[in-house]
Amino acid sequence: MKKFYLKNLTKSRLLAGQLSELLKTGDVLTFEGKLGSGKTEFCRAIIHSLGYNEDVPSPTFNLVQTYEPGLDDPLIPPVWHMDLFRLESAEDVIELGVEVGFDTAITLIEWPDRMGNYLPLEHLKISLFQGDIEDSRYISFKGSSNWEQRIERLNV
Ligand SMILES: Nc1ncnc2c1ncn2[C@@H]1O[C@H](COP(=O)(O)OP(=O)(O)OP(=O)(O)O)[C@@H](O)[C@H]1O
Ligand SMILES: [Mg+2]
Repeated sequence: MKKFYLKNLTKSRLLAGQLSELLKTGDVLTFEGKLGSGKTEFCRAIIHSLGYNEDVPSPTFNLVQTYEPGLDDPLIPPVWHMDLFRLESAEDVIELGVEVGFDTAITLIEWPDRMGNYLPLEHLKISLFQGDIEDSRYISFKGSSNWEQRIERLNV
């Protein structure tokens, strides 16, 4: 478990950039936290750090949005960004094709509880909380021992 204080959005983006350098195909990251806690901002910063240069809207209504951040760089996998807040029942994720994302992409999932047991066991659980001043947040990372090793050097 690792926890950081993020004083402002710049710090959130900095940490997302560090994390993006560790990511590879098959990674699943989940994002928990209240409405407005910064889940989408953090996902957006990961996608931009991987090299995507255009707008990253919240997948509020389409539930899943896919990106190819490194079109010219075969080492950078696609990203599937999901917001499951509006998922009606857990099995509906199957129709979104999530299995394909889990195999071929980096998958970022907001509101992961909505998919129940369809969430892969092996994932990095990221939680965001409001901090003491308006733009500040706390963020925590929890994962298997494999994940804990990989994120050891994160630091802001
Ligand atoms: N340090 C910070 N980190 C992240 N977001 C911040 C920070 N400071 C301010 N913000 C602002 O807080 C808001 C977070 O909104 P965001 O859409 O990321 O929330 P969310 O957790 O995805 O909410 P939802 O559950 O509705 O999807 C944005 O307007 C963002 O600019
Ligand atoms: Mg969001």
